[in-house]
Amino acid sequence: MLRGRILACSLLVVATSVVGCKRDLGECNLDGQTSDGRPIPGPAAFDIAYRLTDGLPMYEGQALVQSTCGDGAFCHAPAAVGADRIGVPAGLNFDVGLACTVPFDNCDDQGLPYAERLDRLYGNQNQINTWAEGMIQEMRAGAMPPGEAGRSVRNNTPWLRKSDGSELPPIESGDAQEIVRNWLACQAPVIARTEAPPSEALQLEPCQSVDNEICIYNGPEGDLPDPVWSDIYWSLMFTQCVICHGPSNGNNNADDPNPNNPFTTGEIPGGADANALAALDLSGANTMDTTTWPNESWAAVVNALTFDQGLCADDGTIVIPNNPTESIMIEKLRAMQTCGDSMPPGGSQTISDPLIQVVVDWINMGAPNN
Ligand code: HEC
Repeated sequence: MLRGRILACSLLVVATSVVGCKRDLGECNLDGQTSDGRPIPGPAAFDIAYRLTDGLPMYEGQALVQSTCGDGAFCHAPAAVGADRIGVPAGLNFDVGLACTVPFDNCDDQGLPYAERLDRLYGNQNQINTWAEGMIQEMRAGAMPPGEAGRSVRNNTPWLRKSDGSELPPIESGDAQEIVRNWLACQAPVIARTEAPPSEALQLEPCQSVDNEICIYNGPEGDLPDPVWSDIYWSLMFTQCVICHGPSNGNNNADDPNPNNPFTTGEIPGGADANALAALDLSGANTMDTTTWPNESWAAVVNALTFDQGLCADDGTIVIPNNPTESIMIEKLRAMQTCGDSMPPGGSQTISDPLIQVVVDWINMGAPNN
């Protein structure tokens, strides 16, 4: 299995070294109109999508490539090393995550200074432009992202298109490939920084950009769940956590019969991290039908001690009813944990405050299995 993954992820390099000519990328549609103002059909490189859970904006092509090629953690991400690269050679990085994401990030204080983060973003954008023909050929051939391995690692959070609020199509579809092709043909423009909008009217409008860096205000967050375990489960746990805290299953394609599954493709994420699964299993008994997963996983969360062989061994309880502050899950969501990593991993908070507050509210109601 591992050998298969390595082969799959290295295909890109092989294929691009043999073929690759600029004309494969076709025409560039930057903003939906010609220079004299006539509309051009099809996706435009400056079309914006925002992430459902926190309103983070990206250009549609940027969002598709970022969420499937590396997302700061795997394969083509600079931070991914060893097995997390799944065979991608060192240095072949396509990380176009924003250099600063307010309200989660402090542009200068946290980790790398802002200028260095911008260097990472523009350096990886250059890499993408160098490998652009190969990327589109691999996508069309269905080899990138690499099948099962690609599905098991990528970030599943849905992205909504600014144009009509619909979900960005899955990377395997012709529509998504056309978005990426056009974005590559336009030399992969990237949003570099985001700020919180001063008013609702300004959501997703440009903010103060400096030099060639593009700044866009955050978009609206998706509907917040009710403080009810099943609602929290489908909005947050299933989309953000089950990929690591769930088993690998033969069903991350399209046939979960559960109508509550939030993914339009009916995909069931899981299998990306054995340590995470050992520490906390958020799945249910039937790996082909997720209908009962919230109900069945509740006991693994509420009044459950942390895994006795993990980084949080003997550190406490995952969710303590009526005590959110001492609940390990809330500490980790807020990136204020005393053991192990923040959740999702990466060191800083990525789930928005209002969404965490819903989980806190549920815990303050006694964290029932509802
Ligand atoms: C990319 C993989 C990954 C994702 C995504 C992820 N986790 Fe984790 N999680 C881990 C790993 C690895 C551990 C064990 C090490 C640690 O505690 O940091 C862990 C540990 C935990 C623990 C401690 C469990 C214990 O018994 O010690 C909690 C609670 C947790 N995660 C909650 C979440 C929540 C909630 C989400 C979604 C918002 C999430 N995780 C998403 C990888 C992940």
